[in-house]
Amino acid sequence: MPIRAARIIGTGSYLPEQILSNAELASRLDTTDEWIRSRTGISERRIAAPGEYTSDLACNAAQQALQMAGITADSLDFILVATTTPDLVFPATAVRVQRKLGATKRQMPACDVQAVCAGFIYALSIGDSLIRSGSAQRVLVIGAETMSRAIDWQDRATCILFGDGAGAAILEATTESDHAILSTHLYADGQYEDLLRTPGGISHGLLLDPSSGSGLLHMRGNEVFKQAVKALEEVVDQTLAANGLDKAQIDWLVPHQANIRIIQSTAKRLGMTMDRVVLTVNRHGNTSAASVPLALDEAVRDGRIQPGQLLLLEAFGGGFTWGSALLRW
Ligand code: UT7
Repeated sequence: MPIRAARIIGTGSYLPEQILSNAELASRLDTTDEWIRSRTGISERRIAAPGEYTSDLACNAAQQALQMAGITADSLDFILVATTTPDLVFPATAVRVQRKLGATKRQMPACDVQAVCAGFIYALSIGDSLIRSGSAQRVLVIGAETMSRAIDWQDRATCILFGDGAGAAILEATTESDHAILSTHLYADGQYEDLLRTPGGISHGLLLDPSSGSGLLHMRGNEVFKQAVKALEEVVDQTLAANGLDKAQIDWLVPHQANIRIIQSTAKRLGMTMDRVVLTVNRHGNTSAASVPLALDEAVRDGRIQPGQLLLLEAFGGGFTWGSALLRW
């Protein structure tokens, strides 16, 4: 019997209109464009408009992906939204996306995946498993964030890093396992929670309060940086070994876009020059779960990614959670 696998049949993305430049941040904080660019690679980021929610960003990205795939929302079997900035505590953002897409089929489970910046890789892996097991034929996987609502705009060490956006991919069952997701690897280690978290939450009785700064994102950046570099080096080695591949066989690295220096170190580990890395960090900043699908969609649409090429997707984030996905396009 042919092996059942999942392939991506459409991608999409959405960025809010408002651009926030380093110069604007430098006009209200003790920072400079030079510091931000040299330490992070970021020049600007997008900020969602008032009244524009994570589900709106997600829905716009999903519509593009549906259009590329040439299918309607009602033909989906499952919706997964990776986000750490949901519209509401409940219902899940994915269910709101289902409604906003106008999908009327009720046999379409929809739920959120919370693995912070690694969320899209987690959701992609879950979608891949749903398809491989025969539980679903088509899965919509979205990474969407309004990180601007979870950060303390007085904290120069974190507020310069993040941006808002959404990216989407549609998975479909295939027996052509050559053009499919070849493997996913997921990891978590809860012992570093203090290095990166938002202390606000229902069970803690403390909600996010942008006016006082309470409950908002807190990060010990330098320590997170070191852990991210180490974990990502390990995950690329594990992915290559598990697939019996040599690093020279990877055509494109599609990394989480937290910091250009972290991306450069992963590329170095793979012996890749930066022209084989899809980079958006300069224009998007760190969009958490949205960064990998945003980068993927950009390189698919501009023709850099071509059929038959081997893609390595990876991400690392709060938790810590991290992982990879290897795809033959
Ligand atoms: O996506 C989830 C995972 N997140 C990440 O992977 C982020 C990982 N971390 C990073 O990307 C980097 O650690 C940062 C970009 C956050 C910071 O860069 P760094 O080179 O690690 O700087 P640092 O935290 O060691 O700070 C160096 C100096 C400090 O001043 P002193 O103590 O040396 O006087 C900071 O106070 O830079 C100062 N600083 C700034 N200066 C100007 C921190 N933020 C700023 C700023 N502008 N915005």
